[in-house]
Formats: sequence, structure tokens, C-alpha cells
Amino acid sequence: MASPAPSMAFLLSLLLFAGMCSLSSSDYLIGVGSYDITGPAADVNMMGYANSDQIASGVHFRLRARAFIVAEPRGNRVAFVNLDACMASQIVTIKVLERLKSRYGDLYTEKNVAISGIHTHAGPGGYLQYVTYIVTSLGFVRQSFDVIVDGIEQSIVQAHESLRPGSVFVNSGELLDAGVNRSPSAYLNNPASERSIYKYDVDKEMALLKFVDSRSGPIASFNWFATHGTSMSRTNSLISGDNKGTAARLMEDWFQQRAPVRTEMGEIPRRVSTLVSDMNKNHSRLLEIAASYKSSKGQPVTNPLDAKVRVRKDSSRSFVSAFCQSNCGDVSPNVLGAFCIDTGLPCDFNHSTCNGKNELCYGRGPGYPDEFESTRIIGERQFKKASELFNKATEQLKGRIGYQHAYVDFSKLEVSVSKPGGFETVKTCPAAMGFGFAAGTTDGPGAFDFRQGDDKGNAFWKLVRNVLRTPGPEQVECQKPKPILLDTGEMKIPYDWAPSILPVQILRIGQFVILSVPGEFTTMAGRRLREAVRSVLASSASKEFGNNVHIVIAGLTNTYSQYVTTFEEYEVQRYEGASTLYGPHTLSAYIQEFKKLATALVNGQTIESGPQPPDLLSKQISLLAPVVVDVTPLGVSFGDVKSDVAPNSRFARGGGAQVNVTFWSACPRNDLMTEGSFALVERLIDGGGGRWLPVYDDDDLCLKFKWSRPTRLSPESYGRIEWRIPDSASAGVYRIRHFGASKSLLGSITTFSGTSSAFAVV
Ligand SMILES: *[C@@H]1O[C@H](CO)[C@@H](O)[C@H](O)[C@H]1NC(C)=O
Ligand SMILES: *[C@@H]1O[C@H](CO)[C@@H](O)[C@H](O)[C@H]1NC(C)=O
Repeated sequence: MASPAPSMAFLLSLLLFAGMCSLSSSDYLIGVGSYDITGPAADVNMMGYANSDQIASGVHFRLRARAFIVAEPRGNRVAFVNLDACMASQIVTIKVLERLKSRYGDLYTEKNVAISGIHTHAGPGGYLQYVTYIVTSLGFVRQSFDVIVDGIEQSIVQAHESLRPGSVFVNSGELLDAGVNRSPSAYLNNPASERSIYKYDVDKEMALLKFVDSRSGPIASFNWFATHGTSMSRTNSLISGDNKGTAARLMEDWFQQRAPVRTEMGEIPRRVSTLVSDMNKNHSRLLEIAASYKSSKGQPVTNPLDAKVRVRKDSSRSFVSAFCQSNCGDVSPNVLGAFCIDTGLPCDFNHSTCNGKNELCYGRGPGYPDEFESTRIIGERQFKKASELFNKATEQLKGRIGYQHAYVDFSKLEVSVSKPGGFETVKTCPAAMGFGFAAGTTDGPGAFDFRQGDDKGNAFWKLVRNVLRTPGPEQVECQKPKPILLDTGEMKIPYDWAPSILPVQILRIGQFVILSVPGEFTTMAGRRLREAVRSVLASSASKEFGNNVHIVIAGLTNTYSQYVTTFEEYEVQRYEGASTLYGPHTLSAYIQEFKKLATALVNGQTIESGPQPPDLLSKQISLLAPVVVDVTPLGVSFGDVKSDVAPNSRFARGGGAQVNVTFWSACPRNDLMTEGSFALVERLIDGGGGRWLPVYDDDDLCLKFKWSRPTRLSPESYGRIEWRIPDSASAGVYRIRHFGASKSLLGSITTFSGTSSAFAVV
């Protein structure tokens, strides 16, 4: 006999009950935040490739700091910030911690805050304090530094102020096609027995945290996956978050599209047409409307806030998704392999050269030869894997929140390493870079040639090159087999060239453990570090960590000290080995120090905090010239259209058509448009009384802002806005707007805007 069907109401209440149970079981308070850190989009050297010619001149999409805080209601808390920047910077970290101290006392310190960089090579440089990292940016760039410090602070403030009961779930899975080993010949020098444990020569695992508000549902996801931010090349000049920034943009938009967005016109589904449905059929009416909207003269914007119009307005309601960096040292996103640009043949396997020349060997991304396409594809692959892991995340983080942190002087650390039949004590060395460093990698060959003559080299290089130091015999012996190109650890004029004191840190949220490392670990170096920490946690007497512990490496975190290879990879001295600063035992030193942290973590001890890293802010030298003045030709105003869309233009969706408009503009350094936009695409609201709705801004992948001067020293400039019409765009009448700020001879800054003629998208 069939049992009587349960009533609908009963089922519903059962579902509700189940829902409440799972929601009320949270043990943590969670909070997230996100803030714009897009630096100067002109004149400033990009950080990463150390290519003096790679100067910012526009925006591909914006850079952000994304933060989460997880707290025990009456206990410990940890904060993690992911930066769309090449790497964390010691001086940025120091200044952020000072600000957090003045806001919150001892709630957030160097011990429980981690600040990590995604390793994009398309962000403005000059925000690091050690000389080596600011040679190509003409020294320190205050504007780059300020916007990052401000943005990190704001993202943490948002996360702190939004702390509420919630749960964190973890999930992980393999992503196979987003990274390849770019130094396989070095990897092959690792012992065969060790290599045989692993299926691949790079780590393919992505680990993801999903943050769920007990009342409103999912609010954020953060994941860690190892692949370099070098989908954009060393000649790109548009600010970009590269593949990880792309993935974050795609995932946040994906989530947001499920929820309506509040606009000035009321709640509308995001980017869904509010235009009448027959628009598509009625071309002549479209063109009529289009023709009636002529280009407006660049009226000065009286309220500067008008220039801060953008599509993603309500950040407090927004979903935050961060794609964090891991042990990417030898992992390239240019997955098609490295080829010679002259012959098209694969480069020499052992040396990545073409006929002996390294400058001809380039890695190819999946969109080759279009770097924007490669960036999108590698970003989309990470986004798709992350959204899949997000949808299926069921393992809840449970247990204590904890952290350990120490500053360690890596220039002279005694390290105990095992050798056949026992242990021996070895030492790390003062920082030095080998000749393999100058050769660069297949992602950016020939970068950073410090040895160039006086006739080349920029003003900052000329200032500092005289202090090049010949390493003493002890240093030569210590760094062997690295042939020393630059003895940076022993160069202190005009101030330190490289760090010697580095932070090491463990954050723990229940069974999830983050290892914050201040550099780029290679694949195998990362594996060894994770396994060393895992064995300490597993062997702890408390049995708190069972077999089920998730350990991720957060690369490029808290400060930057270049690469970390294994001892065997160091022997090969490819780029990564040549850039492993503290000698052959650098990795062993990390493993030793992290074991101490892990032991202290499980035993609840406090570890000695170690020597403070220096604050070199007051010593910084800056040679980047300021903006002198912006002008327009006679009879033309800032924001006037220089080159408009053709009259009565009509573009079909789906054909990849691109609309181009050029405005008379001014230097973007006058106003970074933080949390705003240099460019907007607006759509005419049907029945909206001539009102326009912003639908795309310069944070969208389809919209590019390109800034240029007619000649290098000209005070005139152009802002070209390119909109590749997405297939998903609604039919309707559109226009393009540009926002900027100009500088007068006396130094005052005035905002302006300009508007193109209207055009139809059908
Ligand atoms: C790379 O170098 C190794 C060790 O010197 C050598 O055995 C191997 O044949 C080289 N491979 C190629 C493809 O040149
Ligand atoms: C916009 O410029 C691109 C080249 O950058 C060109 O291919 C395209 O045809 C232009 N669009 C229009 C509508 O002229």
C-alpha cells in the first residue's frame, strides 16, 4: 500500500527546517570587502617584466583589493587581502598595518593579516621599497603606493564593518589547461623518486573557499591556483589584472547576473534590456532617435562626483570573488609552449633560446597571437573551474582559528638539512641574483638587463649603477653554483637593494591552512613546503588535524623576495634558480621556519617575533616627472570629440563589431577615477524621458580606454575608447562617454566629461 502523500505544507516546513539548521550551524563571523586600487594609467612603468619601455597608457580593466575576515565570535580572527598587483610590498604592508592599528588597536596586526599579490605584470609599479624593484619605474611612485595602501585599508574596513554570522565551505579540484611548466629542464633535475609521486610537472589543483552569510546566502569566494600573471605580454601598456583579474571580473558578474541590480531607474535585471521588444524590428525609428542625439560639447562636470559614474555601484551588496596566487614560480599561462619568433620552431629545451639567443623565444597563450584573447581564455578557465567548485562546495570549515608569524633574517640563517647518515648545518647567504636572471623567461625574455652601458639605462639606473658591488669570496662560495650578476643583499646605497628580513606566516581557519610566503615558489618547492607542514600538523599530539587538512600556499604575500626553487633546481640556474636570492638552501630555510610555525600553531605556543623589517619610506627617491600641464588646441575643450562614430551608425550584434571614439583628453594621473571610470557605454532608456543608463564601464573586458600624446612631451592628449560590442548587448541606442581631469599651469585640477554621438545596436 502506498503511504499517503505528505502535504505540500509539510514538505515546505521540512525544507525550511533543514535550511535553518544548516544556516544556523555557523561558528564564525565572516565579512568581505572590495576596493579599487587602479593606479596611474599613464607615464608609469608596469611592474613585473622590468621592461623600461612598458609604460602604462590606459585601462584594459580595473585593479581591485579584495578582502575577507573570518572570526570566532569571542576569539581569534584572520584577514586575507588579495591584490590585483604584481606582488605584495613590504612598505605597503607596514603602512597598512599602521593604519589598522590606529583604527582598531591590536585587532589586526602583522600576525593575523595577510596581503597577497596575484602577479599581474600589467599594473603600475613603483610601490615597493627595495631598490632592485624600482629601477625601471624611475624610483618610487607615490601615487602607485597610495592607491594600493588606501584600497587595502578600505577593503579591510568594509570586511570588518560587515562581519556577520556565516559559514565557510571548502572544495578543490583539478584544472588541467591553465598552466604549463616553463622551466621543465630544471624540474627534471629533481629526484626521479620524488617526481614519480606526482602526475604533472605543475600543480593542477585549485582550492576554493565559499563564504555563506547565515541569512542572505553566498557572499564571496576566494581560491588559490598556481599560474603566472603573464598572459599579457611585456609590451602591453593597458592596466590589467591579467588572467586572475579577468577570472574575478567574470565570476563576480556571473554571480551578480543572478540577482537584480538597483539602479536609478529602479531594480532591473542586470544588463537585461529595458527597451521595447520591437526595437529590433524597427530600424528606422532607432536611427531617428540616434540622429537626434548629437555629440554634446564637453561640458565641464561641475560636481566631481558625476565623474564617478560606473556600472558596479553598490559595492556593499556585491559578491566578491578573488583568484589568489600560489606556487606559480615555474608555471606559465602560455600553455601552447615556447617558440622562436624568427623560425616558428620550439625553443631549445634546456636553455629556452633560439640559435643561442634568448630574446627570440616567446611563450604562446591559447589566444595567440592575441594577448587579450589569451588573457580572457586563461581567466575564463579559472572562472569556470571556480564556479563549478563553488556550486558543489559542501565541506564546512570547522574548528579553531589561529595564526603564527615570524620575521626571519634570511641573509645568514643556519639551517639543519638531512644528509646520508644524519644532519648537517648549512647557511643561507645575503641576497644575490645570478646571470640567468638577466636572460628572463619565455614569458618575458631578456628582461632586466642591469648590465647595460651608460648610454642606455634610465635616469634612476644611472644614479644607482655606480654602487654595483663585486661580491667577496665568501659570498661567491655561499651562492655556488650561482654566478653572481648583482650582489643585491650587500648593496645598501642609496638604500637597501633587496630584503634580508622576511615574514613567514600561517593562517588557519578550522581544517584550512594558508602558508603565506613572500615570493614565488616553484611547483616542487611548494610541494615540499606543504608536505613538511602537513607532517607536523598530522603528527601533533592534539589530533586536532586529522587526515583532512587542506593546505594552500599563498604566493607573493606580505613582501617580495623573488623566487624560491628546490636545491636541485637551483643547481640548474635557469631564471628561477638565478632569482632564488639566499643561496641553494633557501627552500630548506623556509621549510625549517614553517615547521616551527606549524609546531607552535598546534601547541598553542607563541613564537618569537624576530627582527623588524626596515621602513624605508622616508629614504625613497623618485625621478618620475609630475604632470606639468594639460592643454587642448584653440577652439577645442577637454572632452570634445576628436573622432566620432560616423553619423547614423548602426552596428549588428554578434559580429564582433568595435566602436571607436577619440576625445580630447588630459593626463589620467590627474585623477585616478578611483571607484569610478574613465569610460562609459550608456544606453538610452526607452520611455525614460531621454535618460541614459550606464551599461559598461572601464572595468568591463569589452571596453578599453587608451590614452596617448601626439608626441612624447606634448601637453595635448587623446583618450580613445574602444567598445567591442558583446553578443549579449541589448538592442538599442547607445553613446560613449569619457571622464577625465585636466591640470592647469597653476596646478589646479578640473574634471571634465565628453559624449559621443548616438548610434544604434541592432
Ligand atoms: C638537456 O640537458 C641534459 C643535461 O645536460 C641533457 O642530457 C639533455 O640531452 C639536454 N636535452 C636537450 C633536448 O638538449
Ligand atoms: C575601430 O578600430 C579598429 C581597429 O582598432 C577597426 O578594426 C574597426 O573597424 C574600427 N571600427 C569602426 C566602426 O570603424
